Amino acid sequence: MPIDSPAIRWLDDHLLLLDQRRLPHQTEWLSIQNASDAADAIRDMAVRGAPAIGIAAAYGLALEARLLGERASLERLAPALERLASSRPTAVNLFWALARLRERAADLRGDALAHRLIREAETIHQEDQAANQRLGEYGAALLPANATVYTHCNTGALATGGYGTALGIVRAAWRGGVLNSVIAGETRPWLQGARLTSWELMQENIPVTLVADSAAGLLMAQGKVDAVVVGADRIAANGDTANKIGTYNLAVLARYHDLPFIVAAPLSTVDPRMADGGGIVIEERDGNEVRQLGGQAIAPADVPVYNPAFDVTPAALISAIVTEHGVIQRPDRDRVAAHLENAR
Ligand code: MRU
Repeated sequence: MPIDSPAIRWLDDHLLLLDQRRLPHQTEWLSIQNASDAADAIRDMAVRGAPAIGIAAAYGLALEARLLGERASLERLAPALERLASSRPTAVNLFWALARLRERAADLRGDALAHRLIREAETIHQEDQAANQRLGEYGAALLPANATVYTHCNTGALATGGYGTALGIVRAAWRGGVLNSVIAGETRPWLQGARLTSWELMQENIPVTLVADSAAGLLMAQGKVDAVVVGADRIAANGDTANKIGTYNLAVLARYHDLPFIVAAPLSTVDPRMADGGGIVIEERDGNEVRQLGGQAIAPADVPVYNPAFDVTPAALISAIVTEHGVIQRPDRDRVAAHLENAR
């Protein structure tokens, strides 16, 4: 059965991905026919957000197996797996999804292998939607009444299998009547907050105000923020969390202003084999993403640039991590381990 979510459409013999580079002004869908198309879409930022990247990679591998037909085997799929795995380094959902597919199809070949991979990719897609809805409810329960939530990057239906992680909490809080409004930081340099989050919230008439990232401290000092809610690209075993660059700044500000700092992510974003945030590979991207804005130069063409796409927030600055299994208050190694154990 075709599976539909706002940015990912599975149509049984191919995949459609909403090209997020064109939003909010154009709605264009990319047709993905094989693993290489999927890897390109991930690497070139057409599909964005940790859970969405994992889902796209899973479908890409399944499509590749289908093209191989009777010749399909995990050995023959090795180059496709390699290509997908090297598309982006930080979000663990990509590696988690590929490992899950490999494991579930370990003893299969030919059409049976392709069918299993397709079913598994569909399951990952559906599970992610359901996980977001559950974690949204858990997270909304942590917010004070009439809350104004500051968020960063994009964590909504576009970045996931549907509904969203941090924006899942926002959606649930809005439906539950406890949300006053959202403040979205624009999220330089890719502007996910400006281009995606503000657009997505406006589609649902959830009140949102867009601010420059550098306004966050002033807003907190003025008492205009009740909680910071963000997503995650990888959560280490001790709770240290990699997320979009600028998240760590917000966590430091939230601590100074005594505000809750809440991380929302499905269990597929938790990487128990990563002991702490120090080992997480931080993607470094092209300097022109900082030297230019919308293709226009805003800095000297040859100014040296450092452009890390993510940062790591130490667990000690996180008030709670929310997953589809519940809430880890004041996360540390023992609490994360207990949460994973209970979720089994
Ligand atoms: O646009 P990306 O893929 O570089 O951004 C990743 C994200 O969307 C996030 O960091 C997000 O906050 C966590 S994934 C829902």
